[in-house]
Amino acid sequence: MICILLVAGHGAVLETEIKNDSSGLYSHLEGVPKALLPGIGGKKILDFWWEAVKMRQLFSEVYLVTNADKYKHYERWATANDFPVENIINDGTTMYETRLGAVSDLELVIRSKKLHDDVMVIAADMLCADQNFDVAQVIKFFTLMKGELAIYYEMEEGEKTSSRGIVEVCANTHRITKFYEKPCPGITESRMASVVFYCLQKETLSTLDEFLKLHENVEDRALGKYLEWVINDVKIPVYGMKLPTGFQLIGQVSKAVFYQPVHSFCPSKKKKKKKRKKENSFVTLFRIGIMGNPSDGFCGKTIAMTISNFWAEVTICESKSLVLVPHPLNDPTEFGSLQDLYCISRKEGYQGGLRLLQATCKKFYQFCSQNGIALAQRNFTLKYDTNIPRQVGLAGSSAIVSATVKCLMKFYTLTDDDLPKPIRARLVLNVETDELFITAGLQDRVVQNRNYTRMDIRCAPPFWIAYLGDPSDSGKIHSDVRHRWLNGDPEVLEAMKRFAELADQAKTALESRNWTELANLMNENFDLRRSIYTDACLGPGNLKMVELARQQYGSAVKLPGSGGAVVGLCLDPEKLVDLKAAFQEAGCVFCHVVPY
Ligand SMILES: *[C@@H]1O[C@H](CO)[C@@H](O)[C@H](O)[C@H]1NC(C)=O
Ligand SMILES: *[C@@H]1O[C@H](CO)[C@@H](O)[C@H](O)[C@H]1NC(C)=O
Ligand SMILES: *[C@@H]1O[C@H](CO)[C@@H](O)[C@H](O)[C@H]1NC(C)=O
Repeated sequence: MICILLVAGHGAVLETEIKNDSSGLYSHLEGVPKALLPGIGGKKILDFWWEAVKMRQLFSEVYLVTNADKYKHYERWATANDFPVENIINDGTTMYETRLGAVSDLELVIRSKKLHDDVMVIAADMLCADQNFDVAQVIKFFTLMKGELAIYYEMEEGEKTSSRGIVEVCANTHRITKFYEKPCPGITESRMASVVFYCLQKETLSTLDEFLKLHENVEDRALGKYLEWVINDVKIPVYGMKLPTGFQLIGQVSKAVFYQPVHSFCPSKKKKKKKRKKENSFVTLFRIGIMGNPSDGFCGKTIAMTISNFWAEVTICESKSLVLVPHPLNDPTEFGSLQDLYCISRKEGYQGGLRLLQATCKKFYQFCSQNGIALAQRNFTLKYDTNIPRQVGLAGSSAIVSATVKCLMKFYTLTDDDLPKPIRARLVLNVETDELFITAGLQDRVVQNRNYTRMDIRCAPPFWIAYLGDPSDSGKIHSDVRHRWLNGDPEVLEAMKRFAELADQAKTALESRNWTELANLMNENFDLRRSIYTDACLGPGNLKMVELARQQYGSAVKLPGSGGAVVGLCLDPEKLVDLKAAFQEAGCVFCHVVPY
């Protein structure tokens, strides 16, 4: 049997509560997904489930499905808790609006991991009060009944039946005779609530596909809806197992009972009653390169687009001393074990975001000193957060640097006249190139010192992006293109000229909404890049993604950044569905681009 833990939901109420909390007591928990919040006694909800399922070899494998927004949190949790990282599936969504629905998430694991076994499915962000819950007993009952199994419990007084899936169960056979997903009052007398905790036989899993075909709307893709359909419409026998006394699901719990604030993180006690200090945050929208030069250091042309899927946010507030706050995931200072430290360091090196904040502050001060801008004697605290996947060439660092500059300008009340946009763009670039020796492309920030035109984002067709789940096979070999360009190599100069023409033609194609033309140009853009950068530099991972999209599904495709991710345009909606599935099965993360 296989166990699947679902934690792919977006926008949990608790997470929003924490973000909006003004006491400052919970600020260290901002951005942490519900399943990883410290629960009763400081234990995370997911720790509880992991302990319950990993014991006594009940399962041949345990998988975890999450979304692209919280993926990093779970990856860290996994390395610290001896959970196999390759068993975490990233569904590619970063927003509530683009969520897949739990049934699709379940189907994603089963398909992409090619599972052919009975499965136990658990929503691993629900809290269970019984700390000694025995999963083995559930499996025993499932084996005995030889049918699907759903766990239910008796609702407490005051809990509304309209908030859950309500089941009617035959007392003799234990078969669930009726399932009502969030029923209106009066529809059923039953107060037995089903929770997302099921055992499904491998033969039944094929109905997931059928269900998804019948239910296109994401609202209808909740697991409760699936169970309702299986029981009421398909009439597959589903048995109910009642949770033993003492096992309750805590529904609407407020953050105060849910976890204890960590006092060592708290600001001084006096501040508790006061409002949170005035904060300013700046979000840098993320840009992807749609057409043109691979990077803009070549005096060429490029078209880039702001998207909502990924972002970086930097926050500044006045404080007693000057503090740069390390990001709990990107600048780890605490580890699960020495082995955990080893795994994280091997995978990600020592390059968190803190150095970006520090280098930006340094450059900012230097700029102001040299340009006669006096800065007030004030200290500040800077912190950042981002969901931009790392190491897939998507310039997450420029996004953080830009947002930091905006924070500093606001904090020291600098205007656009003090630090004009073109100079600001140069400053951002210099932080990376001079201070941190990151060879950054320019296309991912608004390069105002060049000649640039805004285009109507409504011209954008439905692009998709995909990136490597394991970025280690994206190209690592340095190309000599810049060197050749500086030396006036005619092939490179010619290519750069052609990139610029492609950008011009793409502009026309976008404006006239000629997607066929745009698709052709994107392919040509990639071919040109391939010809001057060589396959060795592009790396097998990038080439594999391009090949998959273009050869097998006829989608236009190119690299949106420096490698590790691809952006594509597929004009046939049916092929797009298959393309998405193929990428997921190849271990990539697939996202539909949401233009900003
Ligand atoms: C800034 O912080 C330092 C300690 O880190 C302190 O000595 C200094 O007085 C602070 N400056 C202001 C203006 O508060
Ligand atoms: C900007 O582009 C326009 C039209 O392509 C051109 O006429 C103008 O000289 C350019 N300006 C700069 C500063 O390059
Ligand atoms: C769109 O582009 C294609 C390919 O370049 C071309 O054949 C076609 O005529 C264009 N369509 C329109 C409406 O301009």
